[in-house]
Amino acid sequence: MDAILLVGGFGTRLMPLTQRLPKPLIPLANIPFVERQIAWLREAGVDHVILSLHYNAELFQRYFAQKTPDVAISFAIEDTPLGTGGAIKNCVPFLSADRLYICNGDIFTTLHLPKMLRAHRDTGARISIALNEVEDPSRFGVIETDADGRIHTFTEKPPRHLARSRDINAGIYLFEREVLAHFPDGPCSVERDIFPALLRAELPMHGYRAPQYWTDLGTPGDYLQAHRDILDGRVRIPLGTREILPGIWAGERVDIADDALLRPPLLIGAGARIGRGAVVGPMTVLGRGVAVLPYARVEDSIIWEGARVLRDSVVISSVIGRYAQAGGRVTAGLCGDGGQLLGIAGGQAEAA
Ligand code: GTP
Repeated sequence: MDAILLVGGFGTRLMPLTQRLPKPLIPLANIPFVERQIAWLREAGVDHVILSLHYNAELFQRYFAQKTPDVAISFAIEDTPLGTGGAIKNCVPFLSADRLYICNGDIFTTLHLPKMLRAHRDTGARISIALNEVEDPSRFGVIETDADGRIHTFTEKPPRHLARSRDINAGIYLFEREVLAHFPDGPCSVERDIFPALLRAELPMHGYRAPQYWTDLGTPGDYLQAHRDILDGRVRIPLGTREILPGIWAGERVDIADDALLRPPLLIGAGARIGRGAVVGPMTVLGRGVAVLPYARVEDSIIWEGARVLRDSVVISSVIGRYAQAGGRVTAGLCGDGGQLLGIAGGQAEAA
C-alpha cells in the first residue's frame, strides 16, 4: 500500500530549531521523526512512502541516500510550496495502488492504521479522516459527524466557545485514489479548500475515532511535552538503548563521572559525556555525543547530537540544536544547529 507523507512545510513555529533542519528530520527521542513515522507506516503494511517535499528537500534526499528504510521511497518535490492540497496532487504520478494513507509529517500518534482501514472499508467512505478529541479545539480544524460517523461540517480554528465539537482533524487520512481527480491544479489547502468542497459535492467522508496517543510536534511546547510523555511511559516507542538503572536509558560508550547525579527519567545517547558534579534529568534527552561539562545542570530539556552544555551552566525546559553550545542560565531557551545560547543569570537566554 502507498502512503504520502506531507513533509514540505517550513516549520516556522519551531524556528530557530528548523532553520537548518526541516521539522520531520528533528529527533524524537534521538531518532529523526520521519524515520519513526515510516516505521509506523511499515508496521501497518505500507510498502511505498512518497515524501512530499519542498523546504530543504535535498536534506531528505541526502538522509535517505545514507539510511535505506525497509520500504520504497519516492521524492515528490515542489519548486514552490503548493500547500497541503497541491502537494497531494503533486504525488499522483508516483501512486501505484487504488487506496492510500496520507499523513502530516508532524503527527506523533499510536493510531492503529489497519483498524482505520477496516472501518474505512466497512463504511464505504471515499475519504476517512482520523479524529482526535481535545479539551480546547480552537487551534485546530474541528469536525462534526453524525451518529454513523459521516462528516457534515468542517470549521477551521473556531473560537473555543463557538466550537460545535471537540473532535479535531488529526492529520491522518485514508483516500480512495479516484478522489484525487477532483483536486484542482495549483496551490491549495486540503483542510481549508478540498475537504469543504468535497463535502458540498456530497462525497462520503467519515471520521475515524479511536483511543490513541496523539500530538502534533508543531511548537516547542508540543515537542517538549511529547518527550515528557515518552520518558514517563505515557506513550511507548522503541528507544533503541538499554535501561541501565530504573528510568535511565543509555546508549553505547557513555562516559559518566562518578559524582555526577542522574535523575530519572532520562535518555542518554551513545557516546555522551557527563562531567564531574553535573546533575542531569529528570525529563531529559541527551543526543549522541553530547557533552555536559562539570557542575552543569540540565533538566526537562532535549539536547541534540554533539551539543555542549558549558561548565557551571543551568539549562531548563530548553531545546539545544546539533553541535550548539548552551551556557549560563537558560530557561525555555531554543537554539538552532551550531548556535550559541548564553543565558544571563536569572534572565532569559539569548541566541548568538
Ligand atoms: P508551520 O510553518 O509551523 O505552520 O509548520 P508547517 O507548515 O511545516 O506545518 P503545518 O502544520 O502547517 O502543515 C502540516 C503538514 O503539511 C506538515 O507536515 C508540513 O510539512 C506539510 N506541509 C505544509 N505545507 C506544505 C506544502 O506547501 N508542501 C508540502 N509538500 N508539504 C506541506
